[in-house]
Amino acid sequence: AHRPLIAPSILSADFARLGEEIRAVAGGGDTRADWVHVDVMDNHFVPNLTLGLPVVQSLLKTTDIPLDCHLMIEDPDRWAIGYAEAGAHNVTVHVEAAADPVMLAKNLRAAGAKAGLSIKPGTPLEDHLETLKHYDTLLVMSVEPGFGGQSFIPDVLAKVRTARRLVDTGHLKLLVEIDGGINADTIEQAAEAGVDCFVAGSAVYGAGDPGKAVAALRERAAN
Ligand code: DX5
Ligand code: ZN
Repeated sequence: AHRPLIAPSILSADFARLGEEIRAVAGGGDTRADWVHVDVMDNHFVPNLTLGLPVVQSLLKTTDIPLDCHLMIEDPDRWAIGYAEAGAHNVTVHVEAAADPVMLAKNLRAAGAKAGLSIKPGTPLEDHLETLKHYDTLLVMSVEPGFGGQSFIPDVLAKVRTARRLVDTGHLKLLVEIDGGINADTIEQAAEAGVDCFVAGSAVYGAGDPGKAVAALRERAAN
């Protein structure tokens, strides 16, 4: 298989030192993150509030690592485009929140971003296969969105396997990403199911050396 992508989530970083926290995973070689995952929460789609476009704009100035913006917000049809225009590499919206996800993907791509579609643990994949033809990434949530540090829900791996098969048979063309409860113990089963990109918050920023944690996770995913 190809090299696994690791995307540390700054949800588990120190929000007063975000620039330094990103630099901790922006070194060279194996310790370097492929993407930095930015969790945007609006206290409506999920019961938690984090950060928004002004912070993302500042982060884009401090790092050359591609930002993977995960929008856990209502009305992404209105708000997602700003993140694409700001220069986010990938902008992911929730299918449960989007009114017109096909139009949304077209708008994100036209603004120069990759378009991502996320599904919560209880959301079936089958209902959204036509929509996914317009997307560059599928973000499978492996916890209920809203908080870091929750336990991995292994049932979602069935959706990962289905998506992997659809990609490998040419029915879909996208990266399969997983988010929630990924750590040294759970990453291997996710890799085995066919994940391309692994988000990890507490497993990276809860570690003494975040860069070393990135390298260790990638190593385990590659086995
Ligand atoms: C949860 C967020 C995740 C979170 C994952 O709603 O979408 O990105 O940071 O944190 P861990 O890796 O600790 O489960
Ligand atoms: Zn996330």
